[in-house]
Amino acid sequence: MTTPAAELRHFLVALTLVAGFLLAGPALAQQPSSVAPNASAVKEDQLVQQLDTIRGLGTIPDTTSYTLEQLGGPEWRGFHNVTLRWIGAVAILGIFALLVIFYLSRGMVRIESGRSGRLIVRFNAFERFVHWMTATCFVILAISGLNITFGRPLLLPLMSPEAFTAWSEWAKYAHNYLSFPFTLGVVLIFFMWLAGNMPNRVDVEWFKRGGGIVGHDHPPAERFNGGQKAVYWIVVIGGAAMAISGYVLIFPFYGTDIGGMQRAEMIHGIIAMLFIAAMLGHIYIGTLGMEGAFEAMGSGTVDVNWAKEHHQLWLDDEEAKIQPAPNQARPSATPGE
Ligand code: HEM
Repeated sequence: MTTPAAELRHFLVALTLVAGFLLAGPALAQQPSSVAPNASAVKEDQLVQQLDTIRGLGTIPDTTSYTLEQLGGPEWRGFHNVTLRWIGAVAILGIFALLVIFYLSRGMVRIESGRSGRLIVRFNAFERFVHWMTATCFVILAISGLNITFGRPLLLPLMSPEAFTAWSEWAKYAHNYLSFPFTLGVVLIFFMWLAGNMPNRVDVEWFKRGGGIVGHDHPPAERFNGGQKAVYWIVVIGGAAMAISGYVLIFPFYGTDIGGMQRAEMIHGIIAMLFIAAMLGHIYIGTLGMEGAFEAMGSGTVDVNWAKEHHQLWLDDEEAKIQPAPNQARPSATPGE
């Protein structure tokens, strides 16, 4: 038998339990249902902001590897993943579109007086070798470099991760090792063609008259015209900048810290995009843009009429070299007479 006091006690216990459940329900519902994934990242971000660098502990002798995160990192990543891609896309696609429009409206610059059939040497074998060595390295450096900037968003979706990794690894080896013959080529180009590429008043006149490419004029030019001199200085100065900034990256922490390397990669990336755009213009004029231009670097000779239309002053000089001066006595057929 239960006494009324015991019954009251049971009732109060039951009431407490029900009240407990009722109050606990909403409180439980307010508990986070999962771990907030960004919470620690936010704290990490604050930590980097305050400390500049987050360093761990390590056992290998290279203490630079102890740095886990530093202030410039996210900023550099933003540049690499967004800004540089925009610069590259606008520069390369922009120049490509302009060249297509130019070709469709102007067409190829023809040898207007037709071919004479007489040839004149324009570049010797050594000059052509240096040009093609540097150009081949440039194209491979450009493709393998663009893979670093654009490979992930553009190529990875088209191939398996394994194939992309293998290709990127080879591209990276090519980029590192071909930098050496490329640099040698730029140095040789600098010395080989310096004398012919000093800007002068002939170039001002050449530019004023549209260089013979815009319109159908034939402004006189020396061995290299104003446009070619511009290409020469782009290659020399651009090539030197690419080499210096590139070697800072190939040999990390030699003479610079992580901030210096981030700046080097930014400079390297921006100049690369502008350099590629400029060289697309150079390749256009040397192939589709101008009749007779490719053979100068192909066989090394050009038609005399081509030289007359595009490099009159150079042709005059070359012809003067092979013709005897008027007062020079003709060699006698019979010296003994
Ligand atoms: C002496 C010449 C050069 C050297 C030593 C060099 C070296 C390097 C190195 C070490 C990197 C960083 C690679 C990485 O992050 O793993 C790089 C990136 C790159 N290089 Fe070069 N390079 C040279 C010439 C060129 C040329 C001629 C071009 C193009 C015309 C070029 C285009 C690029 C591009 C687009 C990147 C990627 C930039 C980025 O996305 O941040 N490089 N280069």
